[in-house]
Amino acid sequence: MKGHIIFSAAALILIALYLKFFISGGCSNISFLYSQHSQQMRREIMERHKDLVFFYQTLSGIKENVIVEASRYKEMDYEVPQILTCKDLTYMTELEFIGSGFTKVVVKGTLLNGKSIALKSIHGKGNDIKQCLQQYGDYSGCHRLATYKLQKEIALLQILHHPGIIQLHGQCYVNSAPSDIRVTAMLELGSPLEMIQLLQTPWEERFKICWELVQLLRYLANSPMGSIALLDFQPRQFVLVDGSLKVTDVDDASTEEPMCNQDADCMLTFPDRTFNVTCSESGRCMGSNEKRNLYNAYRFFFTYLLPHAAPPALQPLLADIMNMTGEVYIGINKTVKAFEEVLNLYKSGMNHSQAQNLHDYNVLRGFRMNDTDGNFRCWPSYNHKGCLLSVHSAAEAAEFCNGRPQCRNFVISQQRTWTGK
Ligand SMILES: Nc1ncnc2c1ncn2[C@@H]1O[C@H](COP(=O)(O)OP(=O)(O)OP(=O)(O)O)[C@@H](O)[C@H]1O
Ligand SMILES: *[C@@H]1O[C@H](CO)[C@@H](O)[C@H](O)[C@H]1NC(C)=O
Ligand SMILES: *[C@@H]1O[C@H](CO)[C@@H](O)[C@H](O)[C@H]1NC(C)=O
Ligand SMILES: *[C@@H]1O[C@H](CO)[C@@H](O)[C@H](O)[C@H]1NC(C)=O
Ligand SMILES: *[C@@H]1O[C@H](CO)[C@@H](O)[C@H](O)[C@H]1NC(C)=O
Ligand SMILES: *[C@@H]1O[C@H](CO)[C@@H](O)[C@H](O)[C@H]1NC(C)=O
Repeated sequence: MKGHIIFSAAALILIALYLKFFISGGCSNISFLYSQHSQQMRREIMERHKDLVFFYQTLSGIKENVIVEASRYKEMDYEVPQILTCKDLTYMTELEFIGSGFTKVVVKGTLLNGKSIALKSIHGKGNDIKQCLQQYGDYSGCHRLATYKLQKEIALLQILHHPGIIQLHGQCYVNSAPSDIRVTAMLELGSPLEMIQLLQTPWEERFKICWELVQLLRYLANSPMGSIALLDFQPRQFVLVDGSLKVTDVDDASTEEPMCNQDADCMLTFPDRTFNVTCSESGRCMGSNEKRNLYNAYRFFFTYLLPHAAPPALQPLLADIMNMTGEVYIGINKTVKAFEEVLNLYKSGMNHSQAQNLHDYNVLRGFRMNDTDGNFRCWPSYNHKGCLLSVHSAAEAAEFCNGRPQCRNFVISQQRTWTGK
């Protein structure tokens, strides 16, 4: 917790310096800095600058919240962030490209202490800059515009704190010229979410991803900045850290509900569906962000991961969840409740405890599991060589084994899955 406060303080000092540098003279100062750019480019830079200043103000305004959040994280055994700076960057070794997108490029690197992290910076040859260059032909202006996106992401990562959001370890700003800032975000390292691979994992693991996602969406719907929508919501915006789902790309997050004059302005449109949202008296499509996230979760995650090969006892509940989220009949709070119900039923063993299944078996104690012993395979299994499953009790394993002619015996190990099975 102490580390977190220091971290926040360090970030605030950086922001204060930044604000002093850029806003002290009001907008005339920044106009002067960017006088080499075309008028249109300057207008765009000003626009993003204003947007970013809003985030920085929010960040300094919620200082107390950050500390309160930090103490909550301790309870969850959350790792206290390290405070990394530009100096740590110079000592990084084993740099290795891991991914790039429209705007940013991510490199893996190893710190002096041996720990690996992810370094995110602007992709100078990415499509974002390429498109901008076609329009303006102004590399430094285009780089500045793209850099605002990364700066917004860094600010947002400091405002939001949740196990489902990638952790920011530090940041580095290098001024090569007054108007040219090179920004590097130092992040917790994850691995890309491979949907194809996930489809082949046991249901319990796929359910975990969906469960973590709905908890993240609940946090986003009630965040310190209001209800946040992830505008670009796709599996590639997420990574896995120690098997847990985390969103890593938040530069496309919207912290405001869309503006409107009438209900028709609030239509939520997806390739295959549209949903109506009402326009409030204050001229906002209230609830639009939450609905958008939930439907995206349904179409990109639930449809692939949730129903397939689910335990029969859970299928009616899962069918309800699929229908309710697919139609966005319920909000995120009720969705979390519904998932909780599934989780509890799953943990309870789903009434598998018919002890008579065990009657035909002899119990031998003190044996060790042998991976290569598996002359019997099943799917989906936790390993590829045999049939490694999670069960609630010996009776459930016996029930499974009784239903398989090839199965003659089974070994119960001490290993436990995330649900405690
Ligand atoms: N912390 C991380 N650990 C491991 N890989 C990461 C991490 N952050 C991002 N990546 C990988 O780098 C890629 C690019 O990062 P990111 O999505 O932030 O860039 P982007 O330019 O905004 O991409 P997009 O075009 O998807 O919006 C991601 O698709 C992801 O696979
Ligand atoms: C949604 O709104 C459109 C236009 O405002 C209207 O035609 C349509 O009937 C509405 N649909 C539902 C399900 O309310
Ligand atoms: C939800 O259930 C209704 C009624 O059975 C059905 O018409 C509808 O297509 C279902 N929607 C989804 C997204 O599954
Ligand atoms: C959802 O739950 C949060 C607390 O987790 C609460 O603050 C919020 O008001 C709830 N929203 C609705 C619509 O009930
Ligand atoms: C499990 O058993 C309990 C009590 O025996 C019963 O109330 C419950 O409905 C059963 N659940 C399922 C899914 O069969
Ligand atoms: C595992 O089983 C195989 C084949 O039955 C055997 O050759 C091997 O020695 C066993 N390994 C251990 C660690 O017991």
